[in-house]
Amino acid sequence: MRRKLVIGNWKMNGNRAANTALLSGIVAGLNDFGADSAVCVPAPYLAQCQAELEGTALAWGGQDLSVHASGAYTGEVAAAMLRDFGATYVLCGHSERRAYHQESNALVAQKAVVALAAGLTPVVCVGESLAQREAGQTEDVICAQLQAVLDALQAEQVARIVLAYEPVWAIGTGKTATPQIAQDAHRFLRNCLANKNAAAAAAVQILYGGSMKPENAKELMAQPDIDGGLIGGAALKATDFLGIIQAV
Ligand code: G3H
Repeated sequence: MRRKLVIGNWKMNGNRAANTALLSGIVAGLNDFGADSAVCVPAPYLAQCQAELEGTALAWGGQDLSVHASGAYTGEVAAAMLRDFGATYVLCGHSERRAYHQESNALVAQKAVVALAAGLTPVVCVGESLAQREAGQTEDVICAQLQAVLDALQAEQVARIVLAYEPVWAIGTGKTATPQIAQDAHRFLRNCLANKNAAAAAAVQILYGGSMKPENAKELMAQPDIDGGLIGGAALKATDFLGIIQAV
């Protein structure tokens, strides 16, 4: 039985005062909802998370990491630095990184390997664009994105990743994938995982991301292969984020 997991991706939002209000609002409302929860925050706010969340049920993580351990890589953040501030998760290959920073499948795979080596749980993001869906390429695209990561991992490492299916056309658009569309993609991804390691495939949490909110979360998370959510906009309001966690 897979435990549900809800991760908020703040993207490039927040300031110290607003973060404190948001984090304390979430923590105050967290109960034993039967789901794990985390927030992935801009790197400068990791220290704030560590100071304000340690000892609570809300975990935190980064939104990206460097493939390098240290050195002359201006602007990059190393996995060990994320660990230094108590992060346990890191997003790898979010569609905004792929689109705006030209992250290739191979680079994303390398990042997942580096994250695991540092003791972080990589949240590997995959998803097709609207044009790709309309061209009937959804499975080819998400399979290639996942396969690059699987090729880079040892079979026994597969169980240590989290996967997020985020159709690009549903991100920040208010256009959520129907539960059936999402379930079909999740089932397909689980089958791809099974080709590498069948036991791990049954254990890996596959999150849905793309305009998930309290109103649609229950139906999405009721699907057999949807194990939680990767939440953008609705993660910026404590009541909305809690509403999604409660929907599991
Ligand atoms: O990482 C989160 C996703 O990009 C979803 O964003 O909930 O604002 O659509 P959204």
